[in-house]
Amino acid sequence: MKVAVMGYGTVGSGVVEVIETHADSIPKKIGGNTLEVAHILDLRDFPEDPHKDLFTKDFNDILNDPEVKIVAETMGGVNPAFDFTMKLLKAGKSVVTSNKELVAQKGLELLQAAEESGSNYLFEASVGGGIPIIRPLTQCLAANHIEGIAGILNGTTNFILTMMIEEGMSFADALKIAQEKGYAEKDPTADVEGHDACRKVCILASLAFGKHVYPSQVETEGITNITLEDVSYINSANGVIKLLGQIKYINDDQIAAFVSPAVVYNGSQLASVKDVFNAVLVRGDAVGDVCFYGPGAGKLPTASAVVADIIDCAKHTERKKIFGWGAGEEDYVVDYKSSIEMPFYVRAKASCAQVNAAFPDVKYLSRKGQPSDEVAFITDVMTENELTERLSGLEVINTIKVTNY
Ligand code: HSE
Repeated sequence: MKVAVMGYGTVGSGVVEVIETHADSIPKKIGGNTLEVAHILDLRDFPEDPHKDLFTKDFNDILNDPEVKIVAETMGGVNPAFDFTMKLLKAGKSVVTSNKELVAQKGLELLQAAEESGSNYLFEASVGGGIPIIRPLTQCLAANHIEGIAGILNGTTNFILTMMIEEGMSFADALKIAQEKGYAEKDPTADVEGHDACRKVCILASLAFGKHVYPSQVETEGITNITLEDVSYINSANGVIKLLGQIKYINDDQIAAFVSPAVVYNGSQLASVKDVFNAVLVRGDAVGDVCFYGPGAGKLPTASAVVADIIDCAKHTERKKIFGWGAGEEDYVVDYKSSIEMPFYVRAKASCAQVNAAFPDVKYLSRKGQPSDEVAFITDVMTENELTERLSGLEVINTIKVTNY
C-alpha cells in the first residue's frame, strides 16, 4: 500500500524511519500488505538523504497518484496544510496528522470532508506526542460521562519548568536546550506562551464533549512570568508549577477550558511528570481518574502515533471510522474567571496585616532570601474575579492558579 508524507521535518522524517524500521512487522497488522513511502513533499532540498528519489515539491504528484491512499501531513501550520488536506480528503484519500494547529482551527471542516468522501482524518499524534490519548478518550472511555480533563500538554514548557525546579536553571538556558533537542515549535513563542497547549486543549475538549472548541475561546497564559522565586515558594508548600490545560464539564451547553501555569501538589499524579513527558488526566463518572503518561514531543515518539494512524487507515480502507465532533457555539466555553472556584498562589509586596485585611484565611509560604517587604501565600477557594477584587489594594508580583487534580 502506497503512502505519502508531506513535510520532512522532525516528525515527517521520523514517520519514514518508523515505517522502514518496522517493515517486517507492519504487514502482519494490516492483512499482509506492506507500507511503501511513494512520495515525500517538501520545498527544501535533501541531496544527501537516502530517499532523494522520493522527494517532490509538487503537491499534485501526491493528489494525482491513484495508488496513494493514505497521506501523513506533518507540515505543521494552517496553510497550506489545510488546502492540501481538504483536497486529499475530497479525493477520497485518508489523511493522518500531527498538526494540532490545523486540527484545532479547522478540524470540523476537515472531519466533515472526510465524512462526505468516506475517508478518514486521524490525529492521534496531535495531542501528547507518542501518548495514546485520542483513541482511549473516544473508544476505551466511551461509556463514561467525562467530568473534566487536566493535562501537561507541552513538552518544551514542562522541560523548562523541570530545569527551573530541579536545577535552578534560568528560563532562557532551559529553552535553548529544549530547542536543541528538537522539542520546541519552530517559533518557541507557541510553546512558552501556551498556544501549543491551547490547541491541544481544543482538540481534547472537542472530542470529549462533541462540539468544536476554537483556540480563541480558550483563555491562555504561558510560563514567561514564572520566576525561580515562585518556584521556591511553591516548593515550600510541597508543590510544583506546571503548565496545565484544564477542561471542566458544566452542562451539555457549557464547558470551561483554559491554559495556565498551575500549582500542583506533590501527591498528584501530574506532579511527578518531568522533562519532556506529558500526561493527560481524565476524570470519568464511571472510571474515576485515569492518567495517560509518556513522551509528549520528539521525532520517534510522535512518529509512533502518526504511523499507528496510518496502520489504522490501512485497516479501514473499506469502512470509515465513526470519529469526530459537531459544530461549536459562541457561548459554549464560559468565562471561567467568574464561574470556576479554586485557591490561588499570590506573591506581593505587602505586609501580613494588609493581606489579612483582604483575605480571611491564607496559608503563608516562605523562601530563602525572602525580602522583608515580600509575602507569598495560598488563598482560600474563590473565583479569579473575586481574587482580583481582593487584591486591588496590594502591589501584586504574581498570581498562579492552584489545581485540584
Ligand atoms: N512543541 C511541542 C511540545 C511539540 O513541546 O510539546 C509536541 O506537540
